[in-house]
Amino acid sequence: MLNKIGLIGGGYIGGVLLQEIVQRRLAREVGMSDPAPFVNPSDPPDRQEVAKKQSVSKGKCLDVAEGTPTIRSDVRCVGSKDYSAIEGADLVINTAGVPRKARPDGTFPTREELLTINLKVTAEVAEGIKKYCPDAIILSIANPLDAIVYTLDKRLAPPKGRLFGMAGQLDSGRYCYFVAEAANVSVENVTAMVLGGHGDTMVPVRSSCQIAGIPVGKFVDDATLAAIESRTRKAGGEIVGMLGFGSAFASPAWAALEMAEAIIFDKRKIIPVCAKLEGEYGVDGLFVGVPAIVGAHGVEQVIELDLTDAEKAALAHSVADVRKTCDEVDTMLASL
Ligand code: LAC
Repeated sequence: MLNKIGLIGGGYIGGVLLQEIVQRRLAREVGMSDPAPFVNPSDPPDRQEVAKKQSVSKGKCLDVAEGTPTIRSDVRCVGSKDYSAIEGADLVINTAGVPRKARPDGTFPTREELLTINLKVTAEVAEGIKKYCPDAIILSIANPLDAIVYTLDKRLAPPKGRLFGMAGQLDSGRYCYFVAEAANVSVENVTAMVLGGHGDTMVPVRSSCQIAGIPVGKFVDDATLAAIESRTRKAGGEIVGMLGFGSAFASPAWAALEMAEAIIFDKRKIIPVCAKLEGEYGVDGLFVGVPAIVGAHGVEQVIELDLTDAEKAALAHSVADVRKTCDEVDTMLASL
């Protein structure tokens, strides 16, 4: 159990994280910061006064706190409209930013198209962390995932391994789920890795996919696997298109908690995470999805897989996409 976990963002993912942290008793205290609802200066003064008094994070925290006697959990919950609720956190999970949302015609933006708005939010997030919990381990979920982690690194420069992103666990979970469905076996039997950026060029690694330790090809034919891998790459968008109001939230939150538990219980568990590469996979200075040992100190070691030539080429393509978005970050940060 940690002393405190800080949650930045009180949206759908933040809400699931709050509930699960309290239910699983992962910390003595959980603090949630979210400025919503915003005070709109063009609203009539009385409406502005109402918005000033309202707080999504305080409301969500009080709701969960009032349920703690029923589930017999002594985890304390504190919410704030500013960043003060994350004060003193040992681990901070960042979900701040707008999610992808379907337009009226059913189309939706790419994660990369969220960059302009979410970069500004991330600059504020970095200031909040610097002020209230500068030594926390930082796990970031906001999109575009790899570029937002890169931005936090530029702004905070934390020690190696103490800042990383969640996406590989979510993307691998999706791959495993589709494979389990196709093979008609338990999801518990399927292991797989999805590497690269958390975008449409992510790389489901077939050579790492096994069912009960047996290569997946024994159970699922090549054409079905190719279709599953294509669906995995676009799985976030599939949910955005269905929901209409935003993007996936239960599976991303659970994926982040898988990583949080590896830290809290010092599991040294191998999980695909968005980690800073310093030469591994031929990449230097970018955050990209790779398998890594996760323990009490955060990302403790990046694992280099023996990829096939086709997988290496696919990873290089995905890394090029991450680099392009991070180049945009560099330009935009210079003018912020
Ligand atoms: C997804 C979002 C959270 O992949 O990036 O569902």
